[in-house]
Amino acid sequence: MLTFVKQGLELGVDTLDHAACYGAFTSEAEFGRALALDKSLRAQLTLVTKCGILYPNEELPDIKSHHYDNSYRHIMWSAQRSIEKLQCDYLDVLLIHRLSPCADPEQIARAFDELYQTGKVRYFGVSNYTPAKFAMLQSYVNQPLITNQIEISPLHRQAFDDGTLDFLLEKRIQPMAWSPLAGGRLFNQDENSRAVQKTLLEIGETKGETRLDTLAYAWLLAHPAKIMPVMGSGKIERVKSAADALRISFTEEEWIKVYVAAQGRDIP
Ligand SMILES: NC(=O)c1ccc[n+]([C@@H]2O[C@H](COP(=O)([O-])OP(=O)(O)OC[C@H]3O[C@@H](n4cnc5c(N)ncnc54)[C@H](OP(=O)(O)O)[C@@H]3O)[C@@H](O)[C@H]2O)c1
Repeated sequence: MLTFVKQGLELGVDTLDHAACYGAFTSEAEFGRALALDKSLRAQLTLVTKCGILYPNEELPDIKSHHYDNSYRHIMWSAQRSIEKLQCDYLDVLLIHRLSPCADPEQIARAFDELYQTGKVRYFGVSNYTPAKFAMLQSYVNQPLITNQIEISPLHRQAFDDGTLDFLLEKRIQPMAWSPLAGGRLFNQDENSRAVQKTLLEIGETKGETRLDTLAYAWLLAHPAKIMPVMGSGKIERVKSAADALRISFTEEEWIKVYVAAQGRDIP
């Protein structure tokens, strides 16, 4: 894992996305053990983690049901646990993983204030928030919410059309896109995926690029919202494919071609 992180840094990838609940609440500790092997790496990395999703697991036997917890007490506990498991002194970014439908924004704001003032967390954000929920939470929280981590890919386009990206553009806030390759479904052989593949590869041919993942990342990067794709692979060649997307641009016409292929019908 340490080698992977170092190779990623050489490619310019310095931001790593975690969540307390990943790997049944074990992933942060695994990463922390790798980071502890070379403490000098910490300052070069931007560590993002999330809190608020709970489900039964062996690490935390007291959790009996799948639920959200956005309380002051839980956010404080989860952030401190993430710092300890990741073996770092502070978190660069803490996101509320999902907004509980009965979340108390005053409690979230109190936790953020305390985490910020004690230097435990530098920046705050959210994940899977609608514009209304984002604006509501921002109105309570003293620190600027710096991102909304949402699902975006050619196969998951809601954010382009439901106001989510328009809101972030208006606020000049960069979204993080989870599952930018639709969790790997982009490579499937179903009709929808194949239509997107065909269009991306046709466009790629004119640019001398044959890698589907590179083209899909380039498509996301071409959007004016300045989307930051969060890739999900432990293979360094995949990271290289992603980094190479920075060299490819899409015209608006090409971008729309992929959009049309993905939705399976022409634009009005
Ligand atoms: N905030 C949230 O609610 C939320 C939810 C889900 C995920 N996330 C975050 O987003 C990250 C990415 O999500 P994701 O894992 O779904 O992302 P993804 O990058 O869309 O999908 C990753 C999958 O695509 C496969 N893949 C990549 N390139 C490929 C290629 N060229 N050919 C064939 N398969 C390829 C990978 O396989 P290999 O393993 O073989 O490379 C892996 O199985 C997660 O790790 C997590 O940090 C956040």
